[in-house]
Amino acid sequence: MSLEALKHEAAARALTLVRDGMKLGLGTGSTAKHFVDLLGERMRAEGLRVTGVPTSEATRAQAESLGIPLTTLDETPELDITVDGTDEVDARLRLIKGGGGAHLREKIVALASKRMIVIADETKEVETLGRFKLPIEVIPFGLAATRRAVEKAIAEAGCAGPLAIRMRDGRELRTDSGNLILDADLGRIPDPEGLAARLDAVTGVVEHGLFLGICSAAILATKDGIRVIGSLD
Ligand code: A5P
Repeated sequence: MSLEALKHEAAARALTLVRDGMKLGLGTGSTAKHFVDLLGERMRAEGLRVTGVPTSEATRAQAESLGIPLTTLDETPELDITVDGTDEVDARLRLIKGGGGAHLREKIVALASKRMIVIADETKEVETLGRFKLPIEVIPFGLAATRRAVEKAIAEAGCAGPLAIRMRDGRELRTDSGNLILDADLGRIPDPEGLAARLDAVTGVVEHGLFLGICSAAILATKDGIRVIGSLD
């Protein structure tokens, strides 16, 4: 089974959790894209009515193209379920997100939801977080000073590894909120909570990609079928 087929399977399982009238957070990335496509199909086929809050401009465009009614957290500050992909998940449902640069809005939307369900293929499961580079969104003003403070926070959390400004098409990537991303290549993060607390305390850091205590369940598609970490109830 291809990775795309596995992502589709995970998305299809998440779709079974959606009920008429629900308010949904719509994630970003290639796996969440499958979910949004399937949601659009089910709405057309069955007349299912839901409202969505997209976590990125890319997801907004996709949802609009499928005719999925959208709202904002200003109009609808509490959502039923957010379904999103992830870059890493461990056995305690701790995540690294932000490979697509959308983790700031993704975290705001997930925290506004009663449940965050992650969908992924089995390659995203890790024993220890950190193999995937940790995205850290920073304000462009004072970048060099913020970068030094981030390096210090990382060292104090017992981690080590280079930081790089994320580039796209030869230029510094700007997020949907106009910020920059520093990717931290840490290899392993022995104490994600300690690192998160230190990064949260750095002025100039808008948000990092560690999602701790936010995800309710992960639907992992494996070649042997679906495996769930946590509870889907
Ligand atoms: C977007 O910023 C990310 O958090 C994505 O949710 C994450 O990178 C997963 O993306 P894929 O489903 O494309 O792997």
